[in-house]
Amino acid sequence: MAGTAPVTNEGWSSRTAFVLAAVGAAVGLGNLWRFPTLAGENGGAAFVLVYIACVIFIGLPLVLSEVLIGRAGRKDAVESVVVVAEKSNVSPRWATLGWVELLAAFLIMTTYSVVAGWVIYYAYNFGGDLLANLFAGNIFSGAFASDTPDQIQARMPNLFAQPGLMIALHALFIVLTVGVVARGVQAGIEKAAMILMPAFFILLVAITIYSGLTGDFSKASSFLFTPDFSKLSASVINDALGQALFSMSLGSAALMTYGAYVSSETKLAPTATMIAFADTGVALIAGLMIFPIVFAAGLDPASGPTLMFQSLPIAFHDMPGGSIVGFFFFVLVFFAALTSSISLVEAPTAWLINSKGWSRLQSAIVMGLTIFLVGVLGALSFNVLSDVRPLAFWSLMEDQDIFNSLDGLVGKLLLPIAAFLTAIFVGWKADRKLIEAETGLEGGMFIFWRFLVSWVGPIAVGLILIFGLFPSLLG
Ligand code: PHE
Repeated sequence: MAGTAPVTNEGWSSRTAFVLAAVGAAVGLGNLWRFPTLAGENGGAAFVLVYIACVIFIGLPLVLSEVLIGRAGRKDAVESVVVVAEKSNVSPRWATLGWVELLAAFLIMTTYSVVAGWVIYYAYNFGGDLLANLFAGNIFSGAFASDTPDQIQARMPNLFAQPGLMIALHALFIVLTVGVVARGVQAGIEKAAMILMPAFFILLVAITIYSGLTGDFSKASSFLFTPDFSKLSASVINDALGQALFSMSLGSAALMTYGAYVSSETKLAPTATMIAFADTGVALIAGLMIFPIVFAAGLDPASGPTLMFQSLPIAFHDMPGGSIVGFFFFVLVFFAALTSSISLVEAPTAWLINSKGWSRLQSAIVMGLTIFLVGVLGALSFNVLSDVRPLAFWSLMEDQDIFNSLDGLVGKLLLPIAAFLTAIFVGWKADRKLIEAETGLEGGMFIFWRFLVSWVGPIAVGLILIFGLFPSLLG
């Protein structure tokens, strides 16, 4: 339904459509790239355990809170908060919550799209390798069979040394995303989710089975699930909570915006639970997909953000069938990234449609262009602008380049602030009857949920905020 229809007239065609779209928004680079990176860096199972606790006690209650603000308001993120504030007789200045979330979505997308561009590049390269092997009658060969491990690793710095290519990939990813968003909720977002998410799950299961059969599954599962509590520290907990917010798309307007399209008949509590569990399940499966391969190849699980782009390709080089699996692995990551970026662009686009009265097409294009321009600076911080320190005045960020400053601003500041405000707003300010009716929860369940939102959420998120901003407190 492109055209000038106001956002609020749009809606999902079914509950399944909403669940797939929301799971698509939640499952992304956060699950496939960030989660394994952080689990690897933080010693595995202790991190995983804290992560799961954060999901259940903090993340899940907030997912329900955000979706219900959206559905109660039925507008873009800012206006939905205002509607709920008005119905609850509290100050419309709570709109700030919506603004922080929209800004977070915008800034996340500027860096997300750059990384998604690398994913496209890798999918393309692995695809070329696969085709070459196919024509050579050597389809089950390892990936890039004639390359040395050093040459394979060098693909990443080689890409970074080509600013034009990086910008082109970033642009391509935004064009694809805007192309979906411009078509509207049902014809665009929902349709994309209905195609990409099932394909994603099939690939995920297939590659995980392959990895379990050919990789070192037992080492991977003990790494991920047998906790060594001596590895626990405040900074591990801090990372786990921050990652839970990011992975569940909290604090970034996506869930509020998608919530606004949910029919009034849908029961929100079970739906929010499904979204949270699917997201966490995928993160854990992603760990079980990636680490057996990493261990079998004798690679370091703590190699950081380059784990996916430098370590895994070496593993695919060494494995039988690595050429096929490597290609499909990056296709899978691409699908996941696309369904997430759609939600990141939809949120500010819905706001433009609503507040400016522009058509969906125009709003999506303007938003895409703006994100593109800021993202270019992020892409260039890997090469031409690598010496620029935009937040040099702030001791916490003084040595971060543009990309990491954008990322840090969101992770350390905007997401925790938004999650904190959401918890206070829903837990303390919003009209209790309205909230209760929206959740559909009854009796003890409602009281328990409300306790988590009013007390556990603000305290835990407040702590990430403080420790994120003043890491020296962690010693
Ligand atoms: N949750 C997504 C991921 O894990 C990223 C995202 C964040 C998407 C915020 C929408 C909003 O990749």
